[in-house]
Amino acid sequence: MSDIEQLVAQATAEFAGIGDAAALEQAKARYLGKSGSVTELMKGLGKLDPEQRKIAGVAINSAKERIESALIGRREALRHAALEAQLKTEALDITLPARGMPTGGLHPVTRTLERIEALFRSIGFDVADGPEIEDDFHNFTALNTPENHPARSMHDTFYLENAPGLLLRTHTSPIQVRYMETHKPPIRIIAPGRVYRVDSDATHSPMFHQVEGLWIDENVSFADLKGVFTDFLRNFFEKPDLRTRFRPSFFPFTEPSAEIDMSCVFCDGNGCRVCSHTGWLEIAGSGMVHPNVLKHVGIDSEKYIGFAFGMGPDRLAMLRYGVNDLRLFFDGDLRFLSQFR
Ligand code: DAH
Repeated sequence: MSDIEQLVAQATAEFAGIGDAAALEQAKARYLGKSGSVTELMKGLGKLDPEQRKIAGVAINSAKERIESALIGRREALRHAALEAQLKTEALDITLPARGMPTGGLHPVTRTLERIEALFRSIGFDVADGPEIEDDFHNFTALNTPENHPARSMHDTFYLENAPGLLLRTHTSPIQVRYMETHKPPIRIIAPGRVYRVDSDATHSPMFHQVEGLWIDENVSFADLKGVFTDFLRNFFEKPDLRTRFRPSFFPFTEPSAEIDMSCVFCDGNGCRVCSHTGWLEIAGSGMVHPNVLKHVGIDSEKYIGFAFGMGPDRLAMLRYGVNDLRLFFDGDLRFLSQFR
């Protein structure tokens, strides 16, 4: 074997025996570096005559190429081996469950409002809205509530500082007024929304919800009120035997007025702790819209008549979901809320 062939064999064997990348690079220098064996052979070419130089040059170049490719092959092999070793030690546990995207959920009161809206839409009611910052006229005056009415007192109502005549609405009834100002009968709406009063304990929150109802047409009677509302409650609670009773009451904006009670959904009217052993739960105020309210919005009270009601959906949500403290709805505690996802 010629010297050159021997050099190639020697380099190839040496590379193959090296197990570490740094040592391989040092070995490379011994053959291909500035004073490596192959480089030295190249330098010797100058001393040869042209004929011999040609032959030797081809042989040296071929040797150099083969040594380089042996080097590259070994580098690759070492890189692979290193990766294999790393993969073995850094085992990935693909059985660990993914963290996932947490899903949100609707607030129980929102669910309740959506359920109420769906039930009333199914019998032809529209859903109306109004501002939470109201003026004195819509919240009180137009609803036939005189200046000296107790609901106007500073103890009940949040008035806005530096904005005379503006307040946080104390009920959703002003939406009746706003709707009748801009729409002609027949009118059939419910109006859900937040309302505010200076009040706070286990069954009262300074912010709570109401759903107003209003049906005005030429021939709407108290019997329609009883039918619509009783039917609504039976559907809402999925209790076809649920009973209602209408107790005479007073609201400035209705005449006659009634408080609506329903048979207790926990004991079916037999008496339990939830209904204070009366068998009844108070659920809404209602009545036939007072002619003065119709006058305020320019509707002819000789031609048109109708009923209105205002109920507390927070109360309905508590009863439907068996929640015993109203404040839980508004604390924002996820341990409570996530149960409704
Ligand atoms: N707005 C009344 C309240 O907050 C509830 C109410 C009673 C609304 C009778 C009505 C109604 O529309 O007819 O106490």
